[in-house]
Amino acid sequence: METLLHSDMENPELNQKFLSKTSKHVERLTNLLTDLDEISKLERGELTIIKSNFIIQDLIKDTFESISIKAEPKHIKFNIKKGYESPIAVNADKEKIRQVILNLFENSIKYGKSNGNISAGIYKTDNRRILIEISDDGIGIEEKSLPRIFERFYRTESGRSLDVTGSGLGLAICKHIIEAHNQTIHIRSTEGIGTTVGFTLPAKKD
Ligand SMILES: Nc1ncnc2c1ncn2[C@@H]1O[C@H](COP(=O)(O)OP(=O)(O)O)[C@@H](O)[C@H]1O
Ligand SMILES: [Mg+2]
Repeated sequence: METLLHSDMENPELNQKFLSKTSKHVERLTNLLTDLDEISKLERGELTIIKSNFIIQDLIKDTFESISIKAEPKHIKFNIKKGYESPIAVNADKEKIRQVILNLFENSIKYGKSNGNISAGIYKTDNRRILIEISDDGIGIEEKSLPRIFERFYRTESGRSLDVTGSGLGLAICKHIIEAHNQTIHIRSTEGIGTTVGFTLPAKKD
């Protein structure tokens, strides 16, 4: 900004460059503030979980649609795995789970390859729990980073170089939300092959 203020206004190319850099900084700060606000609320236990019954496939499809605009430039496609389309009802905080799925999709897009694929699998593990897995065929995560991946602010080297606007809080927020439901979240990843994040939710009570 300083540079722009003091710059020669006759140089549009330079001004454009600084504005674009500034806009990235603003985006990074905005993301950081939103995520910090969210995580501090979660850590103070101020966000209560409001449960209802809903069809998990519908929420997953809805959520992808809401950020498909970010997937389009990279030509990344989304599908629900064959055989897992039939509606399954869960009992959870729909808006919080929407946020979890949104964070996972954002990661799969940011750290995904062009022309890549994202898929979702939905599994009944027992009568009480549903397992949801979001998989991508993106850059993956090196093994040594996996144990730290849910820590606040933790980002990998390749993650940082691919996306300068991330806060490193996304997965920490996901973990908080899932644990507030007394459920679990885990990650599997192979560098160069792809990543799968899985989490469980309570099945709808009959
Ligand atoms: N689907 C994914 N593919 C590859 N790397 C990932 C994926 N999801 C998360 N990561 C890695 O984990 C780090 C932490 O993710 P996250 O907490 O969402 O923070 P952010 O996206 O802001 O960097 C990312 O910086 C990236 O290095
Ligand atoms: Mg993220």
